[in-house]
Amino acid sequence: MKRVSFLFLFLFVACGAQETTELTTGEEIYTARCAACHQADFSGRAGPSLKKADVLAMPDSYWLQTILNGKGSMPAVRITEEQAQLVVDYVKDSN
Ligand code: HEC
Repeated sequence: MKRVSFLFLFLFVACGAQETTELTTGEEIYTARCAACHQADFSGRAGPSLKKADVLAMPDSYWLQTILNGKGSMPAVRITEEQAQLVVDYVKDSN
């Protein structure tokens, strides 16, 4: 139980550490908001791999919906729609 609360505290701190307004490129946003769960190289950790062709082939609307509203065990990421679009472009262009 202790371990579980520690993990949640860590995720909370990790997710809130950087001010949303400082993040201006898709890479910065990804590093600050996504990499903790999806790994810097997109291979996945707590979250699934974002390198798979079927995920990359999903329309931007699916990605934006997932990021802004959350999906299953992925919490909604508190960034603007513009930032979400930047991060989607970054992930898709990098794979
Ligand atoms: C707290 C951990 C966490 C963070 C932060 C996070 N994700 Fe996720 N993500 C997950 C998990 C867990 C899932 C699987 C959700 C499910 O289907 O139950 C997921 C699913 C996804 C999916 C759908 C994959 C599929 O197979 O359909 C996409 C796309 C995605 N995340 C992108 C992102 C992006 C981009 C960011 C940053 C803006 C991000 N995620 C931040 C944990 C996270």
